[in-house]
Amino acid sequence: MEMTAQARPATAAAANPVSIEFRDICKTFRRGREEVLALDGIRLEVREKEFVAIVGPSGCGKTTLMRMAAGLEFPTSGSVLVQGQPVRGPSPQRAVVFQQFALFPWKTVEENIAFGLRCTGVAASRRRDVVARYIELMGLQGHESAYPQQLSGGMQQRVAIARSYALDPQVLLMDEPFGALDAQTRVVMQEELIRLCRANPRTVLFITHSVEEAVYLADRVVVLGRRPGRIREVLDIASVRREHQWEGYEHIEEVMDLESFVKLRTRIWRLLREQHVEKELDD
Ligand SMILES: Nc1ncnc2c1ncn2[C@@H]1O[C@H](COP(=O)(O)OP(=O)(O)OP(=O)(O)O)[C@@H](O)[C@H]1O
Ligand SMILES: [Mg+2]
Repeated sequence: MEMTAQARPATAAAANPVSIEFRDICKTFRRGREEVLALDGIRLEVREKEFVAIVGPSGCGKTTLMRMAAGLEFPTSGSVLVQGQPVRGPSPQRAVVFQQFALFPWKTVEENIAFGLRCTGVAASRRRDVVARYIELMGLQGHESAYPQQLSGGMQQRVAIARSYALDPQVLLMDEPFGALDAQTRVVMQEELIRLCRANPRTVLFITHSVEEAVYLADRVVVLGRRPGRIREVLDIASVRREHQWEGYEHIEEVMDLESFVKLRTRIWRLLREQHVEKELDD
């Protein structure tokens, strides 16, 4: 089992208590007679209100890791703790946003956003206030009574994010939430997610195939190696963002042109490329 030292989070969140802890996680899956080792010795702490992105080659175990934090999957060895408690199953405190929007097609925008609140017994008047607030924050005004199939992909994903946020969860788990969107919508959603996270900071674990997206959004980026997934490197983005004042720029394309951004992006690309080269040598 390989242990990898983690870079210490250097954000304001660095001093916060640990929110999600992956403690020496290994996971094997049975495939017929074979055992497949999907994750090997993952040790990672995410602090409260920290935004951590995970990148890595396809099949390296990113979704499996997230499903464990969600309580939808369990480690073969090691443990996952959220707010100090072992994860034993799903909880409204841990909201999940998937790539496919996963809305209820028979419910309107408003009803979809209100769904979790209704399940957790929030009173109707408070529900209306919360729904109205997230409709506004996510720019969904005028679409309150629309059904998901009447909306574009970007709009549907706004509803899915609003639904998760409305529950006021401690932890947001997002698995390639913008993966199915066109490039321009994706950029708009990235900027919106940043705004939302600034207005309501949450602990976020965010999986993406986009290196730019990871660097733009996250306080730290965790790079996983190809299967069995191990942590290759943890990059501290927050201190670079602070030092080079990325927050002073309004749009992602301006930030992406900065030398400080390009350096981080190149570093991650190199790490990911090494994974492919190693694979080719093995084949
Ligand atoms: N329920 C399962 N049964 C058997 N094997 C599984 C199961 N779930 C995942 N795996 C295997 O575990 C490995 C990791 O899968 P996972 O979906 O976590 O990867 P990923 O990093 O999310 O990939 P992608 O980037 O393509 O989404 C893969 O080899 C996958 O085939
Ligand atoms: Mg996946």
